[in-house]
Amino acid sequence: MERLMVLRMGHRFFRDSRVTTHVCLTARALGADGVIIADREDKTVEATIREVARRFGGNFSIESGKPWRETIRDWSDDGGKVVHLTAYGLRLPDVIQEVNNATGDILVVVGSEKMPGEVFKLADWNVSVTNQPMSEVAALAVFLDWHLQHRAFDKVFPNGQVEIIPSSDQKQVRQRVAGA
Ligand SMILES: C[S@@+](CC[C@H](N)C(=O)[O-])C[C@H]1O[C@@H](n2cnc3c(N)ncnc32)[C@H](O)[C@@H]1O
Repeated sequence: MERLMVLRMGHRFFRDSRVTTHVCLTARALGADGVIIADREDKTVEATIREVARRFGGNFSIESGKPWRETIRDWSDDGGKVVHLTAYGLRLPDVIQEVNNATGDILVVVGSEKMPGEVFKLADWNVSVTNQPMSEVAALAVFLDWHLQHRAFDKVFPNGQVEIIPSSDQKQVRQRVAGA
């Protein structure tokens, strides 16, 4: 089974906690298998995401503190492909077919502040979601939706404690029975 992971770069402790949490939540909801927060440990974000995964189910990994360069190099050495999301990259519609045709694991890299130029060289694809600056959360969401071809609603999140029941007029949540 191919793995789809997100590498969150440039995370600044506390200041970026909310946005990094949103990167993780978006990655999880839209089909990624996990997030690596580069360079800085953030046990608070890790705990928040683990709690969401425990309540709502699914197998989602979260780790923080591993250096970004080592993460990307290890990924490539293991045969995985690297997609760097950047406003300066090639247009998503022009490269998505090539990305989707590639075999193997995919690491999607998103930044926070200015990215080191080396990331552009290490990536297999530098991909833009429009050539306008935007939020890394939005760019990640659009990329995952295109990459997984709008199938996020089909994803199953097993072993959660609760499940949201879609409703037209109220907030409805069902408690799940263990093993169901
Ligand atoms: C708020 S932006 C800051 C970028 C920074 N000013 C720079 O020049 O590298 C944070 C991250 O969002 C992502 N991003 C922003 N705009 C994007 C776009 N149009 N397409 C793809 N990714 C984008 C990139 O991963 C970027 O590192």
